[in-house]
Amino acid sequence: MCGIFGYIGKKNHAAEIVLDGLKKLEYRGYDSWGIAVKKGTTIKRERHVGKIGAAKTKLPVSNLGLGHTRWATHGGVTIGNAHPHVDCANTLCLVHNGIVENFRPLKEKLVKKHKFLSETDTEVALHLIESKAQKQPVARALRVAFNQVTGMNAFIVLNAKKDELLAVKNGSPLVIGVGKGENFIASDLWALLDHTNRVIFLEDGQLAQISAGQVKLFDAASGKALKPQVKRLDWQAQQSRLGRFHHFMEKEIYDQPKILDDLSRLSPGTIASVTRLIKKADKTFLLGCGTASYAALFGEYLLNFSGYDAQAIVGSEFQKFARLLTPKQAFLMLSQSGETIDVVDAVNLAKKKKMRVVGITNVLGSTLYRKSDLKILLGAGQEVAVASTKAFTAKLAILTQLAYQLNGNLDEAKKLIAQAARATQGLLSGKVRADIKKLATKIKDEDDIFAVGRLTSFPIALETALKIKEVSYAHAEGYAGGELKHGPIALIDQGTPCIVIAPKDQSLTDSLSAAHELKARGGLIIGISPQNDPVFDVHFKVPDLKEASAIPAAVIAQLLAYDIAVARGLNPDKPRNLAKSVTVR
Ligand code: M6R
Repeated sequence: MCGIFGYIGKKNHAAEIVLDGLKKLEYRGYDSWGIAVKKGTTIKRERHVGKIGAAKTKLPVSNLGLGHTRWATHGGVTIGNAHPHVDCANTLCLVHNGIVENFRPLKEKLVKKHKFLSETDTEVALHLIESKAQKQPVARALRVAFNQVTGMNAFIVLNAKKDELLAVKNGSPLVIGVGKGENFIASDLWALLDHTNRVIFLEDGQLAQISAGQVKLFDAASGKALKPQVKRLDWQAQQSRLGRFHHFMEKEIYDQPKILDDLSRLSPGTIASVTRLIKKADKTFLLGCGTASYAALFGEYLLNFSGYDAQAIVGSEFQKFARLLTPKQAFLMLSQSGETIDVVDAVNLAKKKKMRVVGITNVLGSTLYRKSDLKILLGAGQEVAVASTKAFTAKLAILTQLAYQLNGNLDEAKKLIAQAARATQGLLSGKVRADIKKLATKIKDEDDIFAVGRLTSFPIALETALKIKEVSYAHAEGYAGGELKHGPIALIDQGTPCIVIAPKDQSLTDSLSAAHELKARGGLIIGISPQNDPVFDVHFKVPDLKEASAIPAAVIAQLLAYDIAVARGLNPDKPRNLAKSVTVR
């Protein structure tokens, strides 16, 4: 959701450093942005609606600055609602990620003495801090105010009177980058990597006081000083570059053969430690949101097929299981970012219930990574496009290995994943690639597109539909093939595109029957299957890779979604209304 970047230090072009930091956070999704710098003991700021693009800043030279990309929650997308917000004296400014749930009663009290210039909950928090700062240092005022607001929030204050940045959080991620004679703060590790590899992950309930030469840490509840834990990142986390590609989504689809090949060589020890946990557990829950929830569902099928009791949960609905959770169960949490709020909430609950948590994530050092007992990294490299692609197939590759290892067949799974890597490579050029583009051009103006699959192909059908709708805005639905007759088939009309995922498994005959039913109602049948069938109007051949057949099928769906978006003249990297990482409820 919102992106945050702050700088304090020896350089006097803080505004440019902050602007550059915000550009690195653009991929998170936002609708407006702003920067503030210290000038003397006051604040100078600029705020804008829309994208940063090639914007340059005209703010004065300064060694202290703070910026924000806003994804609107409270108050419309206007310059007045864009962050940073300033206090009445124009000496403090605030950027914020989260939602101040009790903003209404707080505002009722503050409005008598403070001038409100926006509709945001953020400005309420700022005036609360300002009111508390009348009788005590700003750091303490922030702490008191933070303890008074409810909700999951990250606040960063620029105090122009004292040359300091103050940060406190509960829920939303914040990372401090430690430099020499300069320090940084960002909502996202990737934004810091050009500056430093020494970082402090701010934990929930911690408050940081950051000057050019020092970072002090406090417990936000008690005010007690804490020792900052500086972590040196010894991994090569490079900011992703577009290279020869037109969009990050395209690039990330093309990254997949290499990622899958690497995953086919994932350490057996990593897989074994997780399968030991699953074997000991009474039941395994798999949880994720959006695309990750479909990977979780794929995992549920595979674990059940392997003879283990497993259940997938959509992150935002996990509360319904709260009373059923016991320490004897295992929890597999799947999240590309490792910061999705519903996943973080679920981890916290699972830890409270003394469950062992396995975090399957793409981001080293993310909240999920840090909180998990066992960790598997996707190793997919930075995923910039809002639509998740390579992180999805990486999860499928890991889950396939876990399921096969449960029955002692890890070597076979590794072979299948290596084959899936090669099959994926084959889809990315030549005739198949051209045929997918041709199909996208043909169906680009269709309002409704359907995807069906059975068993392990059902989650792939759901993901196919999600990919199409989020980047092309076409209405797309995924169904379990057997469900068509129970209602959805009423929607099929002459020429309606119906993607039928039909691997050579026990569901093949039924999937082909579903294709016939769709065709009989006029559907244009697009088959993704190892073998052609007369029922298919268009056929994309994928090899028979048992459960791993899901991987090339998903890649075809990703390419089709991408091509439809491009054919519709849309930018698939930044779909409207969506953010890369959903850190508020
Ligand atoms: O970072 P996460 O994997 O936890 O994100 C979960 C979803 O927000 C994410 O998969 C979302 O559905 C994507 N836009 C899908 O392309």
